[in-house]
Amino acid sequence: MKRLSTVKEESSSPFIKSQQEKVLLRIVVCGSVDDGKSTMIGRLLFDSKQIFDDQLEALERDSVRHGTQGESIDFALLTDGLIAEREQGITIDVAYRFFATEKRTFIVADVPGHEQYTRNMVTGASTADLAVVIIDARKGVLTQTRRHSLLVDLLGIKRVVVAINKIDLVNYQHDVFESITSEYLKYASDLHFDEIHFVPICALTGENLIFPSANMDWYQGPSLIEIAEKIPTQSNDRDLPFRMSVQAVNRPNSDFRGYMGLVSSGKIAIGDAIQILPSERESRVKGFSDFDGPRTSAVAGESVCLLLEDEVDVSRGDLLSSVSNSASLTDQFEAHLVWFGESPMIPHRSYVLKIGSREVSAQINRLKYRLDVDSNKHLEATSLQMNDIGIVNISTTSVIAFDAYDVNRDNGAFILIDRATNLTVGAGMIRHGLRRYENVRWQTLAIGREQRASLTDQKSFVLWLTGLSGSGKSTIANQIEQIFHQNGLLTYVLDGDNIRQGLNADLGFSESDRAENIRRTAEVSKLFVDAGVITLVSFISPFADERKLARDIVGTEDFFEVFVDAPLDVVEARDVKGLYAKARAGLIPNFTGIDSPYEVPTHPDLRVDTSGASIEECVKMVLRSLHDKGLIESRMYR
Ligand code: ADX
Repeated sequence: MKRLSTVKEESSSPFIKSQQEKVLLRIVVCGSVDDGKSTMIGRLLFDSKQIFDDQLEALERDSVRHGTQGESIDFALLTDGLIAEREQGITIDVAYRFFATEKRTFIVADVPGHEQYTRNMVTGASTADLAVVIIDARKGVLTQTRRHSLLVDLLGIKRVVVAINKIDLVNYQHDVFESITSEYLKYASDLHFDEIHFVPICALTGENLIFPSANMDWYQGPSLIEIAEKIPTQSNDRDLPFRMSVQAVNRPNSDFRGYMGLVSSGKIAIGDAIQILPSERESRVKGFSDFDGPRTSAVAGESVCLLLEDEVDVSRGDLLSSVSNSASLTDQFEAHLVWFGESPMIPHRSYVLKIGSREVSAQINRLKYRLDVDSNKHLEATSLQMNDIGIVNISTTSVIAFDAYDVNRDNGAFILIDRATNLTVGAGMIRHGLRRYENVRWQTLAIGREQRASLTDQKSFVLWLTGLSGSGKSTIANQIEQIFHQNGLLTYVLDGDNIRQGLNADLGFSESDRAENIRRTAEVSKLFVDAGVITLVSFISPFADERKLARDIVGTEDFFEVFVDAPLDVVEARDVKGLYAKARAGLIPNFTGIDSPYEVPTHPDLRVDTSGASIEECVKMVLRSLHDKGLIESRMYR
């Protein structure tokens, strides 16, 4: 059976189009398989007659074969439609279902509640108007209920229905319902919901989902769907100030330049003044390209191609904003961060931050605290693990345009991407900027890299040597510097042990300090290269993320990475500084290769093996490769 009624599949049908004219409500359903989430959604689809006859037949067949309800229909199979899901007995990804009543159309995000729940919640809930939190009447309020509710709150959803399911299994007892209600209200008093509704339901029979139940005299309130029909759509994005992140610049010929993107909030019409951020230049809307037929205006939710009156500089990632109510600019802000990376969040590590279509380098400067989901208390923490939520200060290397998340969800949300793996590892909601970036501006200097280089007649670059302690990095760097020096080149060696005695004297060997150690060193290398100096860097630099960061900071065309390889047993036997012996004796914690990892470079520009070749041979190999890359002249290695 294929997945039922996803929005995309159905949106072209005239019936669905007419349904979409009714106000659309986005619902996120939180709960686990055991709570009856899939059954509830399946039942909603069934009772609202969103199932076609052939699907019903398939469902009846499948229920007998795979179902858990004997000969009766297993409604969970409607939503747990993917084969893998069925086999594992879990729902594996956020799926969107579409259904309608006479009054309204609904999109339901079905969010799985197992391990990766924060990622799925952020995916499924960030646009929702209403959250349905399912509680098993037999189990009451669980840690999971609190986690989901906290995330719902952080994601800015203001309206919640608590569906107390399996009420039949507690004999429809009123006091069970009452005690769960009061416990939930107690927990939610710290949250920021505007409305909380409680409904006793039986998802299996559909009681109080769409139709009232005959088994609970004590409950005279509305069914779940009656409540949902009255919930106002929260994100009236059209009433917010205009924002559009530029996804692409369309320039088929020199006469035409269109800026394409999704209007994420507000409206825009021909003649409107707009501001381009972060440059703060202004222009007016000249028109729209008529890809989708002629238009003179656009509103939130529509993708457009805008033409501007002036020939201003606009690139992908810029934010077009209303002038009178403009977005803020900053390079430091405080945010809620939900972490879903498998490896923990490392303060000071540089991640790629994406807000709208803008991507910048970002660093978590400070983890202020972690939120305890059970008590909602602030806990001290040095890192965030998968599914943790923290409050952090983040700085970005270039300015971003943003709104606080609680006033504009689209323009206040961002994701963090791991540089080495390219995986999305976190998502955040900006609370407020921390300083006005205008106070610090880049000064343009009269003399640039080229002028400086013309004096020395050399090309500056970074030779980055990475490898275990004792692998031979410093020895190789030293010999190469001597050769360069004899040939009249201006050079400098940045060596881990030396830099750690001055600039980085405040840093130790935790992952976070090592990340900062490399970031600073990469920044210094960049300055040296700009100054026209050939810079040799000899740092263990054990993590792929930071080596990638160093390359990004310096610029890949000026960066040459050499992996100085030697097996651990060889470097340990050499033990030039006597540190391996101490580390083995437990006297040096976090020693690379012993109790702290070295991530072997997978694509260095060159690998030399100092256990199989002499230092002189390795030096020659490095010089030859530098020459092949056009960085040095051939006389250097003859
Ligand atoms: S890095 O991992 O942060 O890149 P860096 O190259 O700056 O390390 O410093 C490594 C040097 O510090 C080693 O050559 C060694 O002399 C010394 N050292 C002291 N403690 C440690 C440790 N725990 N791990 C590795 N090196 C250490």
